[in-house]
Amino acid sequence: MRIDVLTLFPGLFESPLRESILGRAIAAGHLSVQAHNIRDWAEGRHQVTDDAPYGGGDGMVMKPEPVARAVRTVKQSCPEAMVIMLTPQGRTFRQADAEMLARRPALIFLCGRYEGFDERIRTSLVDAEYSIGDYVLTGGEPAALVMIDAIARLVPGVLGSEGSAQSDSFADGLLEYPHYTRPVEWEGQRVPEVLLSGNHAAIARWRRRQQLRRTRERRPELLATAALSDEDQEFLQTLERNDGPEQG
Ligand code: 6GU
Repeated sequence: MRIDVLTLFPGLFESPLRESILGRAIAAGHLSVQAHNIRDWAEGRHQVTDDAPYGGGDGMVMKPEPVARAVRTVKQSCPEAMVIMLTPQGRTFRQADAEMLARRPALIFLCGRYEGFDERIRTSLVDAEYSIGDYVLTGGEPAALVMIDAIARLVPGVLGSEGSAQSDSFADGLLEYPHYTRPVEWEGQRVPEVLLSGNHAAIARWRRRQQLRRTRERRPELLATAALSDEDQEFLQTLERNDGPEQG
């Protein structure tokens, strides 16, 4: 997959894309990510990229011309790329969006600073507009990094063990079960006995029930859209009847 990022601060993308899983995936060629400076497409001695808003008010607005030239230049070498704008007004980015975007051959992320983009950029050039949640960031760059991370790990070959993207939170619409490793007792807390039992069926059932219990406690709204078996439904009903303390 090819990802191009258009930003006024390409340096923000350097170390996050050099380290860890993303760094390895890029080095291995599963993924390419290039950050471009929108200022390179601005004109004049000062290469101005923003201006005061028509109608007055605080802050500056990103001018349409440099952004349009940047998007069109990148698209020329990659016409199939989908253009994604990052703003707090976009639809909330979810795992289902990551899954959809991970199937695209190329993405262009458009990161805004200041008060945002001239509205005509969106209407002329943008295929989708996303936010990563209900809080305000200083710019779209951290949001682009969040989305790139969530998308890249779904690209085939990026994660070492293919199973780990399968079983994680939200893949089946539920939160994950809790994990334990050595030592078996730490600061008075023991690893649940079932995990030491070697009984794989019992372990799978315990984990599934932990997922259901946690999701019901922390994110009950997810249960409405999760894929639930008859056994899952029965277990949730027993929780409804008991509504009791935490247990295995
Ligand atoms: Cl995409 N941009 C900004 N500036 N703030 C945000 C955001 C994006 N998503 C959540 N907050």
